[in-house]
Amino acid sequence: MRTISWSEAGGGSIHLLDQTKLPLSVEELVITRPAELVTAIQRLCIRGAPALGVAGALGVALILKNSEREGWSTALIEREIFALRNARPTAVNLAWGVSEVEPLISKGSNEVLQRALEIAAKDAVSCREMGRLGADFLVEILGNRKLRILTHCNTGALATTEWGTALGVVQELHSRGLIEEVLADETRPLLQGSRLTAWELQKAGIPYRILPDGAAASALFSGLIDAVLIGADRIARNGDSANKIGSLGVAVSANQVGVPFLVIAPESTVDRSIATGNEIEIEFRGDDEVTQIAGVQTAPFGSRTYNPAFDVTPARYIKAVVTDEKVYEVSSGVSL
Ligand code: MRU
Repeated sequence: MRTISWSEAGGGSIHLLDQTKLPLSVEELVITRPAELVTAIQRLCIRGAPALGVAGALGVALILKNSEREGWSTALIEREIFALRNARPTAVNLAWGVSEVEPLISKGSNEVLQRALEIAAKDAVSCREMGRLGADFLVEILGNRKLRILTHCNTGALATTEWGTALGVVQELHSRGLIEEVLADETRPLLQGSRLTAWELQKAGIPYRILPDGAAASALFSGLIDAVLIGADRIARNGDSANKIGSLGVAVSANQVGVPFLVIAPESTVDRSIATGNEIEIEFRGDDEVTQIAGVQTAPFGSRTYNPAFDVTPARYIKAVVTDEKVYEVSSGVSL
């Protein structure tokens, strides 16, 4: 089952692999109404920056299919597009995906759909390219040897259309016989590492261990890691990169012990309208994600929380940003 796909069934629908149910259950979510897609994005049924880009583009096609069937006003179409574009604020790919197809709206749903499907196909190609560039760069700086990689959040096929960004590099290294082990941060509070990354690594036959986020610094200081590979949700021109909360702490620790910290993301994640990470809007999420585990209350009722979904790692901690076009050595002052 693919992360996200289009079907002509029901007059046009988006099919999602429901990531809230993984790894215990593999379930498909069939979306026929734009509001359902917004909810699915906000609940993280679909997530990960590149996958959200595809969801944004396909979502506009879905809006137009609904509109053509029901004769919506221009104002209603615009409201639905606004809701989709702003469903989550940090990953630039969502708004990017919407903007990529917007110029085609006047030509109708089929033109928009065609372009959205091209974006999805391009994402798969980009992931392979990032995998190759990232693996080549690691071999260049660390030598042609088996590596122990630390990852954070989920950056695999589930976060893209296939293969993945940081996990795409891991897949590429594995295909070259260069992976000794992946240490996957569990990634509190929603456990994208232990639920999703571990599921993907297991299916790919790549040796892995899951560690609590609080153990990442210890693993780095204990010499268990050769390189850290993460994805990104938005990258500023100077290389500052927003990614899942906890990435910043890993970056600081990696720098303390001289372990290269790499960000792997497609060009569509680079927001060249912003100079630095200070301009990145960070999504804050609800208390329940912190005070409960899998729906079971674990903190005292009424506890308040601090729950930013992302943090920004300054470029000085990032050895390189690897996109589908090139390797930018941002800590050496190279800008994107
Ligand atoms: O809240 P999420 O699960 O959407 O956060 C996702 C991440 O932070 C990923 O690391 C990022 O989108 C890169 S995915 C290739």
